[in-house]
Amino acid sequence: MTVLITGGAGYIGSHTVRALRAMGREVVVLDTLELGFEAATLGAPLVVGNAGDGALVRSLVEEHRIDSVVHFAGYKNAGESMQVPGKYFENNVVATARLLEALVGTSVRSFVFSGSCSVYGTPAVLPVDEKAALQPESPYGQSKLIGEQLLRWHGELHGLQWMSLRYFNASGASTDTMIGEDMSHTFNLVPLVMNAALGLRPAVQVFGTDFPTPDGTAVRDYIHVEDLADGHVRALTYLEAGGVSGALNLGTGTGSSVQQVIDLVTEVSGRVVPTQYVGRRAGDPSAVWADNRKATSALEWVPRQGLRDIIESAWRWHQSHPTGYV
Ligand SMILES: NC(=O)c1ccc[n+]([C@@H]2O[C@H](COP(=O)([O-])OP(=O)(O)OC[C@H]3O[C@@H](n4cnc5c(N)ncnc54)[C@H](O)[C@@H]3O)[C@@H](O)[C@H]2O)c1
Repeated sequence: MTVLITGGAGYIGSHTVRALRAMGREVVVLDTLELGFEAATLGAPLVVGNAGDGALVRSLVEEHRIDSVVHFAGYKNAGESMQVPGKYFENNVVATARLLEALVGTSVRSFVFSGSCSVYGTPAVLPVDEKAALQPESPYGQSKLIGEQLLRWHGELHGLQWMSLRYFNASGASTDTMIGEDMSHTFNLVPLVMNAALGLRPAVQVFGTDFPTPDGTAVRDYIHVEDLADGHVRALTYLEAGGVSGALNLGTGTGSSVQQVIDLVTEVSGRVVPTQYVGRRAGDPSAVWADNRKATSALEWVPRQGLRDIIESAWRWHQSHPTGYV
């Protein structure tokens, strides 16, 4: 009963590896370490390799008697995907297809996938639920949608039980400051604001101050990475108990503006956050937050940490690890 965790040396993967091991599950991490760190696995068994390497995956499944997979491996920068779409289709779609193909006929029955709220594009109705139209606005979002479609067909044709967890904005660090988000290759708001507060970058740029939101800056649903990890543990348990395959939103159900994040970082850190207000970026929705009722009911999952917990944990992590894991 071992779980293969692709991308388990990355940000969300490492928190999930830790949560699974804490409940006594055997895991094997498969990560290229291109964007991940061995230190983040906290000593979990790690194989350095590509999730799209079918021969390697099949040998790991046999050697470790793997019956479940959690697939985090992939790229996540929507902005970059507009510049180099092929990179995203290659890693997020082709590698996922190869991984799934390698699992056909093996002992693997359950598969949890890193989905994304970017599959919704700009939602017509908020909060956005799983029945909303799927209209991604970047190759990244499209790659996540294709990943879900691959899963649906593997479910129908090969009996794979699957769950796509559509994360909203993953943020924060572990409460005990052991692991967190490495800032060297992230474009997520919270680490960028932390960087500015620490004087590691000249200023944080705020894209757009004229959105139809209470303070004019864009609104997103920030979900603590430990709550996400808990969602994965529950999704795996649910599938293994015969739960229904499908997609679930993992968000708090509450939106916070970019300005609220900056104000809270200023308060928690006691530092000035140099801020530069610039125009909107193409394709940035004004507001996105989750209807999470399907996940809370199917998985009995409740996000326990709010924006203050996110900022406080991230501040402790970034202050104590200004250069991340390096
Ligand atoms: N961070 C977010 O807010 C967010 C939101 C929605 C979805 N996601 C998705 O969740 C997943 C994990 O995100 P993260 O924030 O932990 O990113 P991350 O970059 O920290 O982790 C990804 C990990 O996967 C590894 N990797 C990449 N391609 C690989 C491959 N082909 N084979 C093996 N390893 C590979 C990287 O080295 C890295 O360790 C990604 O698929 C991302 O698209 C993230």
